[in-house]
Amino acid sequence: DSVERGEYRHYMQKEIFEQPRAVADTLEGRIGPHGILPNIFGIDADPILEKTRAIHIVACGTSYHAGMVAKYWIEQFARIPVVVEVASEYRYRDVVVPENTLFVAVSQSGETADTLAAMRESRRRGYLATFAICNVPESSVVRESDLRLMTRAGPEIGVASTKAFTTQLTAFALLALDLGRRRGLDGAKYLEHCKELQSLPRYIENALKIEPEILRIADHFINKQHALFLGRGAQFPVALEGSLKLKEISYIHAEAYPAGELKHGPLALVDENMPIVAVAPNGPLLDKLKSNLQEVRARGGELIVFADERAEMDDGTEHVAMVRVDGGGDLIAPAVFTIPLQLLAYHVAVQRGTDVDQPRNLAKSVTVE
Ligand code: G6P
Repeated sequence: DSVERGEYRHYMQKEIFEQPRAVADTLEGRIGPHGILPNIFGIDADPILEKTRAIHIVACGTSYHAGMVAKYWIEQFARIPVVVEVASEYRYRDVVVPENTLFVAVSQSGETADTLAAMRESRRRGYLATFAICNVPESSVVRESDLRLMTRAGPEIGVASTKAFTTQLTAFALLALDLGRRRGLDGAKYLEHCKELQSLPRYIENALKIEPEILRIADHFINKQHALFLGRGAQFPVALEGSLKLKEISYIHAEAYPAGELKHGPLALVDENMPIVAVAPNGPLLDKLKSNLQEVRARGGELIVFADERAEMDDGTEHVAMVRVDGGGDLIAPAVFTIPLQLLAYHVAVQRGTDVDQPRNLAKSVTVE
């Protein structure tokens, strides 16, 4: 056990630090000088992806959050409408399936009972085809799907998913760009984004270097009972994933909100006992986010901000901590900003003395309903 963990104290920490490699492996042999290589989704993929006019993404837990990020990308690049739903809801709902809709199942294990049942149910619902994004080649989800793209995270032992998530984002970015190319995404933009995606391992490597800063911030959470995570756009699901990590392993109640929704409820909770973690990448929504943060600060909330290196944050907003992250371009920023949130949850849990790799009441793979 300690041999496998090497220098790391927990599997989760090891898996967080394996992400540059896991993402690089997931990209390996999938992008060439002219973009995404043919047949990476299977030899039957071409006619199906050409015909796809809508997408339904179904998953549980962390995999569901990856699907939520994908919705932003696919709609932006390919202008194809995407619905994302948790499998336990999808399977019992009377879903409307438009013509030529692709069903996408996302699962690290490929054995999650609800996801598998949803996929089987989808067979009766008249989809164009089923597509799996999965980390285990011999799993049921992969065996039963028409098309697939394997993540190559390697075995994930920690119950709280880390490298599975960033490799799922990588797989979805490939799918979104491929669909974009088929549906009118500008050729130069497409190639630029392919390059950007190839740089993701480097940006993750760099983001991991902020661990010492995170250690100091984690101190701050030890005696807290609640935390709020904020993000906007494709960083909203990243905030959701950050809050899930914190609750899973540190047992602190955490919620995530799209920052613009703050004024419609959660602002009432904000006081000095509520740390607020905000993800602030550089982009068109930055100014909006900054005014959301001022609303928090005005109510005495303690702000911990993960801001892009290029984001101008010196607007007088006080904060408990501001950590700078080089998020790269728009496409990869959600994966890059996931890193500090994983590290934060990890170090808070370590300091609170929980069983990080085996949190109470949770299982790595939930194979019964
Ligand atoms: C469990 C795990 C989570 C995981 C979820 C979905 O709840 O604890 O980490 O995200 O199942 O698992 P899957 O294998 O389908 O991605």
